[in-house]
Amino acid sequence: MAKNDGPEFEKLGMIGVGSMGGMMSLLYAEYGVEIHYYDPSEENVNKLREYARNAGHNVDHLIVHQNDYKELCESLEAPNEPKLFVFSIPHGAVGDESVKGLRPYLKKGDIILDCSNEHWTNTERRQKDLEPDGIHYIGCGVSGGYQSARHGPSMSPGGNSEALQKVMPFLQRVAAKDKQGRPCVTPIGPGGSGHYVKMVHNGIEQGMMSAVAEVWYIMNRCLGMEYDEIANIFESWNAKGPLRDNFLVSIGIDINRSKDKDGNYVLTNVQDKVVQDADDSEGTGIWTCTETIRLHVPSPTILTAHSFRLGSADRSQRLAVNKSFNGGTQPSKIKLAGSDDNTKSKTAFINDLQHALFATFLCSFIQGLHILKRMDAQQSWNLDYRNIIQIWRGGCIIQSDYISDLLDHVFEQPNETDDGSLLSVASIGDELSQAFTSLKNVVLRSIEADAYVPSLSATLEYIKYSASTDLPTQFMEAELDFFGAHNYDLKSEGPGKPVKGRHHYEWRPARGIVDDERGGGK
Ligand code: 6PG
Repeated sequence: MAKNDGPEFEKLGMIGVGSMGGMMSLLYAEYGVEIHYYDPSEENVNKLREYARNAGHNVDHLIVHQNDYKELCESLEAPNEPKLFVFSIPHGAVGDESVKGLRPYLKKGDIILDCSNEHWTNTERRQKDLEPDGIHYIGCGVSGGYQSARHGPSMSPGGNSEALQKVMPFLQRVAAKDKQGRPCVTPIGPGGSGHYVKMVHNGIEQGMMSAVAEVWYIMNRCLGMEYDEIANIFESWNAKGPLRDNFLVSIGIDINRSKDKDGNYVLTNVQDKVVQDADDSEGTGIWTCTETIRLHVPSPTILTAHSFRLGSADRSQRLAVNKSFNGGTQPSKIKLAGSDDNTKSKTAFINDLQHALFATFLCSFIQGLHILKRMDAQQSWNLDYRNIIQIWRGGCIIQSDYISDLLDHVFEQPNETDDGSLLSVASIGDELSQAFTSLKNVVLRSIEADAYVPSLSATLEYIKYSASTDLPTQFMEAELDFFGAHNYDLKSEGPGKPVKGRHHYEWRPARGIVDDERGGGK
């Protein structure tokens, strides 16, 4: 690499070289950056040493181990140059410990780029703590797992705008590139906005992962399709149509086809439990769920997907429940329409599955973006949604090019989305209306067959109730008024804004004990 084409930061300090940090170290070194790293885990250090030795591209000599924070900082010291640190560590206490360890050696202008999945409130707390001394803390979401960390991840940095400008050339170089070669990184905004965007990404990811798993199961258990056949379907979905260039569908192809050294499918023996929420090792989806409730944004696809994960985690408990339900339910074959022409009806049902999956993916995006929009309005972050969609075009888990194109057009016309539901945008309404019949058919057939469709059915209901002007909540409102005098508005009183109603009816007057004695308990 020519010198004038070289890295803006010639050295950086890496803290945490586990699967993500180790791969990012190799990536940055490939771009010519000298990496000095510290990680208290001997295992992580040894793994990175081995990876660096085998990486080729002459990166080994650029990746240098340091024994503690002091050595790390000394190795980066250069006159008049700010030091850049990259974190890739567990969130919470570990992040605090790392800042504390570095603090004595930090000086004005130094930048910590926290590429971990940190909670946005921790990010903002550390920013407030460090900024008075001129030390910048950028909360940078990094997506795409360790493969993208090695090859170029999707990145969402947020914090002090001057510091962001300093790191952007470096980030643009190392980030994933979309199909037009544009980097999947952009300055998000102030404070914890970068980590917040990543949190929302993970919530969307959670909804999408449930949906793709549900659809895979229906094909395998209820349509009797072999893994290879499912892989071929995923491949065709990923090639064109509404699931075009979708990361989760594309990795599904490899997962369905992978065989171990004995020729057995690896997937066959994978237990059906997702535990990173239950064991507190990750579970950033929890934060999105908490946020959507806190901000009063309905996100049933994301929330239900989370409950599904939680429900799956303790398999031994499920075995006990299974016994008490005398074996529980067993999925059966789905009854396909036109059984005299099974091939055709199976093809039609698979087409329904494709559109049901698309609708659930799109609603996961919409729910995540609604959370973001609500938070943006509260915090005055002034987020640029087209830029955020751009970040999600490459290197990340929720990459879905058809959906990104659709949303990009929506955000191109800001008036359409300024203050309201994305579901009210005509192009999104058209897409979901078209997919609705397929989604409904899939949910109906799956329920008949005792398949598991938590995220698909939650999405169906979400679309239904979001577009309805006649909901059962009419009765809920009356009951709330009955026992709590919560008030209601009349149907004749306009569209019905989310504010307390003006009417109360004494459905049953409150009675004292004396009243009971006087006559009857009613
Ligand atoms: C990514 C992923 C990743 C996340 C895991 C686990 O974008 O690469 O979102 O950051 O840690 O997917 O997700 P949970 O935190 O939801 O368990």
